[in-house]
This record gives sequence, C-alpha cells and structure tokens, in this order.
Amino acid sequence: MSSTQAIGFFDSGWGGLSILLAARETLPHENFYYVADCGYAPYGDQTHDYILNRARKITDFLLNTQKVKAIVIACNTATAEAAQTLREENPQAIIIGVEPAIKPAVSHSQKHRIGVIATDRTIASARYQELLARYAQDCVVHSQGCPGLMECVEKGELNTASTRALLSQYLGSMRDDGIDTLVLGCTHYPFLAEAIRETMGYPIELMEPGAAVSRYLKNRLLDQNLLTDSKEKGFDRFYVSDLNEARKTVAQRLYPCATHFEPLPI
Ligand code: DGL
Repeated sequence: MSSTQAIGFFDSGWGGLSILLAARETLPHENFYYVADCGYAPYGDQTHDYILNRARKITDFLLNTQKVKAIVIACNTATAEAAQTLREENPQAIIIGVEPAIKPAVSHSQKHRIGVIATDRTIASARYQELLARYAQDCVVHSQGCPGLMECVEKGELNTASTRALLSQYLGSMRDDGIDTLVLGCTHYPFLAEAIRETMGYPIELMEPGAAVSRYLKNRLLDQNLLTDSKEKGFDRFYVSDLNEARKTVAQRLYPCATHFEPLPI
C-alpha cells in the first residue's frame, strides 16, 4: 500500500457526494474515485443479498482494479448491510462506513426528542437497532423510512413541490411532536436540507456525517502513514452504472467540479 494511491467512495447514486464534498475539503490533495451505482439503485428498497452482492463487486473493483488505499462506503444502507462482511473478507483494507448520527443527535437534543430519516432498509437493520439501544435509551426517537426520497435527489428535484409533499408526509408526526434535532440517515438527504427546513417550519438541527467521516478517514490514513505528500490538487473520477447525460447533469449540480465520468464496468 502506498500513500500515492487514491481513495475509493461508493453509493447507490449521487447521495455519497455529500460525503465526497466534505472529504474534498478535509483532504484537498488526495485523489478520489467515486462509484455511483445508479443502474442498481435504490439500495434502500432491496434485500440484504442484493446490496451485499453489489457492495462486494464494487469493493473488488475499487481494491483490485483501481488499487485504492482506502474505501469509504458513502451510503448508510450499504454500511448497515455489508460493511462487516466486506471488512472480514478484506482484512488488510481500510473500509470506513457511515451510520446515522444517533449519538451526537441525542447529546445535542435539549428536548430529548429526535427524528431519524433513512431508507427502509437502514431503519430495519440490526445495526440501527443496536445504535438506538446503545445511545437513545432516554430519548424519544421518531424513526422514519423514506421510500422515494433518494429518487428526488437523483432527478435533481431538490426543493420542488412534489419533494416537499413527500417530505411533509414523512416529517409530519415528528414536526407535530416538536423534535429539535433530525438525523439525516441517508447520504442523499443533506441535498434536501433547504426543503427539509421549509417543511419543518421551525429552526431545527440537522445531523449529517460528512465532516466527522472525513476527519476519521484522515486520521486512519495518518495512523498508517498513507496520507499523500502531494501538494497538487487531487483529482475526482466518477464511475457510474447506467451512465447518461441526465445523470451527469445532476452530479455536476451537486458536485460542481465533476468532469471526468466513465461507465462502471461491473
Ligand atoms: N444514499 C444511500 C444511504 O445513505 C441509499 C439510498 C438508496 O439507494 O436507497 O442509505
């Protein structure tokens, strides 16, 4: 393993760009490969086996074809369903996941009432139940699966009437209960922050993991002497299943310096 190798990120689509944006700020000189598995999305409506199968193929592509020095699973759903297995199968690799920020949300909430929005698959996962049992015993938690919401981001409908209507359906009961902190438990949702705030209608803290994950990634690389020495700006390269012009346009809106796209060969 060498410090000159790139870092790999993956998600079912463009949501993981919310993590990539934070990582780019923390690690300006590193090279990034980002896999958007748009042709197999959404993961959140799929079975464990389906998600694990895609996560294995993408991990193999990143580790063995692109030869990355670390992988960030920029997807809560794939982290819940596949991270542990991927680590067991690739014990030498640095594999970092993202999880709903329950612990920081519980410590931040003055009212001890929080909301969590995520995919159905994440909410149903054993890992999510473990996080609640460990950190949220003394807190009211509204857990809400949000089918259809990642598609709003994939279509670039970040704050349209139909996106707000869907949000209203999902956020209604937590708004009525007066939560003061909302965990964005899917990496797509930070791109809906404006629509979420409008739908809630009162000031609320939104918890997203990008900055914390990026700091953790930097520390892991530092510990293993794998931070690049380069002083040049790092590159961003995108591998996309079912790549088309509409997908590129949305990616460029969310991550303005995205220019280099290729079809994902798996
Ligand atoms: N962005 C993904 C997550 O964080 C999942 C979206 C999906 O494919 O359903 O869970």
